[in-house]
Amino acid sequence: MRTHQCGELRPEHIGQHVTLTGWVATRREHGEKLAFVDLRDHSGITQCVVRNDVDVRSEYVIRVSGVVAARPAENLNERLATGGIEIQECVVEVLNAAEPPPFPVNERADQVAENTRLQHRYIDIRRERMQRNLRLRSSINSAIRRAMEDQGFVEVETPMLVPSTPEGAREFIVPSRQQPGSFYALPQSPQLFKQLLMVAGIDRYYQLARCLRDEDLRADRQYEFMQLDAEMSFVNQDDVHTAIGAAVLAAARAAGQEPGEIIKITWHEAMNRFGVDKPDMRFGMELTELTDVFASTEFKAFAGAATIKGINASGKADEYGRNKLDHMTDRAKQMGAKGLVWLKVAADGSFESPVAKFISDAERALLTERLAAKPGDLLLIVADNWTTTCEVLGTLRNDIGRPPVFEGPYRYLWVVDFPMFIGVDEVSGRPKPGHHPFTQPHPDDVHLLETDPMNVRSQAYDLVLNGWELGSGSIRIHQPELQARIFTLLGISDEEAQKKFGFFLNPFKFGAPPHGGFAFGIDRLVAILAGEENIREVIAFPKTQSGADPMTNAPTPVAQKQLDELGIRVLPPKA
Ligand code: AMO
Ligand code: AMP
Repeated sequence: MRTHQCGELRPEHIGQHVTLTGWVATRREHGEKLAFVDLRDHSGITQCVVRNDVDVRSEYVIRVSGVVAARPAENLNERLATGGIEIQECVVEVLNAAEPPPFPVNERADQVAENTRLQHRYIDIRRERMQRNLRLRSSINSAIRRAMEDQGFVEVETPMLVPSTPEGAREFIVPSRQQPGSFYALPQSPQLFKQLLMVAGIDRYYQLARCLRDEDLRADRQYEFMQLDAEMSFVNQDDVHTAIGAAVLAAARAAGQEPGEIIKITWHEAMNRFGVDKPDMRFGMELTELTDVFASTEFKAFAGAATIKGINASGKADEYGRNKLDHMTDRAKQMGAKGLVWLKVAADGSFESPVAKFISDAERALLTERLAAKPGDLLLIVADNWTTTCEVLGTLRNDIGRPPVFEGPYRYLWVVDFPMFIGVDEVSGRPKPGHHPFTQPHPDDVHLLETDPMNVRSQAYDLVLNGWELGSGSIRIHQPELQARIFTLLGISDEEAQKKFGFFLNPFKFGAPPHGGFAFGIDRLVAILAGEENIREVIAFPKTQSGADPMTNAPTPVAQKQLDELGIRVLPPKA
């Protein structure tokens, strides 16, 4: 139907007879007889000079034939790739009329309520921003596939109707018609299947896998999302990092980046220096050890504290007035700190702070040196147990210094040696697994499993980009005895383990190779690479924060007949 696309024509096409198709972006009357019609498709916009008795309006779908001509000098548009030419002597054929669109099909729609954009997503996607994002997503997906295939990974599709997968989120469940009262779960990830594929000798598996989790939705979370999911046999952690790293860096290159190498740090170092397990390495303000500075302090709040650390918000003294500092102190307390000491460095190097009088000259000198404090700096100090001190300062560091996630430079890093367990379950008193319960402990720490579980490191690792967790993985347990030990620790009885995971565990008795794997969130990676702060902007048909789709109105009630067939009775909503 067309000879060219709307973003394609250049001065070298002048004189050619061409046919374009697309949507009417704008129409402007031009004198008595003519009108300018900007014709748009996914590739761009071309100006067409049409007779003004042609009835075309915004978003009409039309076909235009005419001759490419140079624009008069006063009409040149340097901001448009096609701004040097226009189509003259146009014959216009209306392929379909259109009602006026509910919002402008250009960047002004960014100001429209998101609900409205999602309600008419098919119009929203006509816009350059969405076209760019979805096309980038497609390029990234294909770069990832290519990187995986090149490394000998085999794509295997795993089922969507599965039993429970232990990833820790709430599941979506699907009632069985043939077995009323029984339910499938939608997969939180292909975890169990991919491990069974290793027992099955697939050796290197990957899948662009759809995963479903009934979580509270946020900027980086949807119910449905995509993972690059992978699993490998006969490997150690470094092998997994190399393979996955290649795919991530290929994705970055597909987005026009030239990523540096992916650095590696341990979880302990990440917490110690940045106070979070997903550090944003684009800025400094590292947590600085101060415990020894206050070893014999007179200041009650610091005396005897297990860990004292500080950060220097360089040059921020003026920016943070009393209100902001009070707010920050409240935030620290909400996270479990007993308080927050702030010190502003005055021109003469003295400290301005309600607690300045408790800090001796010797302590001040040491503090100044340790934190490289200069006049105009704001110093923040917390004294508590190691975990609280790190976590509180890590959060404040991000609050104060963190740029939007998508701003370069792009700092990829592996965080390794996560603890095997995080905290203790309040009800059972048992340790809670940090990753899923199939994660292998660090070989040097296995002997501590029963005696000192909180100090056992695992062979779990995360990939982090600019403070966002892109993905996680681990080396898995392949020996049934070790798996049984972990279940015992978690308080899962043999009987329960058999009932829940028997289908998964029994095959391991038939020759399971050592294996490990990883999954990263494609939506998150694409969002960052597209310069977006919310993954909804890189998903064609996402759900809103409240889990609804304003376009299809899902979720909706279903017919009584359908419920009867499934043996389901719906109770009235709780008051
Ligand atoms: P995990 O649960 O850490 O690991 O998930 C891996 C990555 O998937 C992405 N992700 C999400 N993206 C959007 N919306 C969500 N609701 C959402 N939840 C997770 C994140 C996350 O880092 N089976 C293991 C991996 C393994 O051990 O191999 C797993 O799923 O980017
Ligand atoms: P207090 O002695 O509780 O009145 O606290 C004096 C000041 O020290 C207040 O500004 C508190 O916010 C701060 N503070 C108290 N405990 C701590 C702590 N553990 N770490 C950091 N600051 C603290």
